[in-house]
Amino acid sequence: MSSQHITVSLKDHSYDIHVSDGLLDRAGVIISPLLNRPRTVIITDENVARHQLPRLEKSLQKANIAFDTIVLPAGEATKSFAQMEALLDQLLRLRLERRDKIIAFGGGVIGDLVGFCASIYQRGIGFIQIPTTLLSQVDSSVGGKTGINSPRGKNLIGSFHQPDLVLTDVSTLDSLPKRQLLSGYAEVVKYGLINDPEFFHWLEINGPEIIAGNHNVQTDAILSCCRAKAAVVAEDEKEHGARALLNLGHTFGHALEAEVGYSDHLFHGEAVAIGMVMAFDLSVKMGLCPAEDANQVRDHLEKISLPTRISRSDHPISQVDMTADRLLDHTRHDKKIADGRVTFVLASGLGRAFLSPDVDPEDVKHIFQLALD
Ligand code: GLY
Repeated sequence: MSSQHITVSLKDHSYDIHVSDGLLDRAGVIISPLLNRPRTVIITDENVARHQLPRLEKSLQKANIAFDTIVLPAGEATKSFAQMEALLDQLLRLRLERRDKIIAFGGGVIGDLVGFCASIYQRGIGFIQIPTTLLSQVDSSVGGKTGINSPRGKNLIGSFHQPDLVLTDVSTLDSLPKRQLLSGYAEVVKYGLINDPEFFHWLEINGPEIIAGNHNVQTDAILSCCRAKAAVVAEDEKEHGARALLNLGHTFGHALEAEVGYSDHLFHGEAVAIGMVMAFDLSVKMGLCPAEDANQVRDHLEKISLPTRISRSDHPISQVDMTADRLLDHTRHDKKIADGRVTFVLASGLGRAFLSPDVDPEDVKHIFQLALD
């Protein structure tokens, strides 16, 4: 089966994203020409190792690529200084050379940690992303943001380090728990809301098929998201401007994630779903966006079963005690703060997102209160 590919065009480092059903079984032959010698290290987590690793290993063997495999614990806690140090030490023990490349095989946690280690191992080696969650396939595996968490916050330590290749096999989504798939779907919707209303309307019709596991529809959606992301990254690799639009819903979402201590009470994509509704509600409150557009966003996310407010009683988030004041305080620690001002991503309608540093904190607090009531 042929795969479709998109090129991320950068001045110093262009690379391809291949997307198709069953790609994992051909990974070895696609990776082989990129390697300086037929040797690599796969870094993955326990869940991916259980469900998908044999396919990747078999495909590397078929292409005569020697490899070691490092399996890390699954979960956000793996993006830590301790795991980074241990991983770098293992790569040194395996005598990985500067011109070798390593493989990040997993979701966002593995991609971010492995990418960061690749960026500093012997001053930087190449790496290949093989994302296995919807969230990493449509967003985090593309664009070169890498990093780990600090006890002071998420992704506060990191680097920009572009992968040499991204291989996305939609069949890896089959073993993903539904809540994880839904969480990734929030990032899919994000691309429609930023600048592609037609894609949003397509999702209103086809979104349920993505969640039901239709590989053709999943492939189309992932290609659309990767095309959009590749264009943004090509224009603004290091996030000096337009790339910040990809943070739609994230300032609100990160405040919620911080308040639940980055626990399973709220997955990242769920926080983004609630955050995107808040960004539209804030835009309506500021007189910038028609209320119907905000309602359309909320309706679609609710129909697909994503949370849109903190008080949703059938979701673990409702068990966490929060206040609007504490949530507002978290927004003041956002990475995107400049001169003490937080830049919010607002919208003047569906598919019309823009950046605004001129948001009254009282309005933000009001929106948090709305989501809590
Ligand atoms: N996830 C947002 C970005 O890559 O810029």
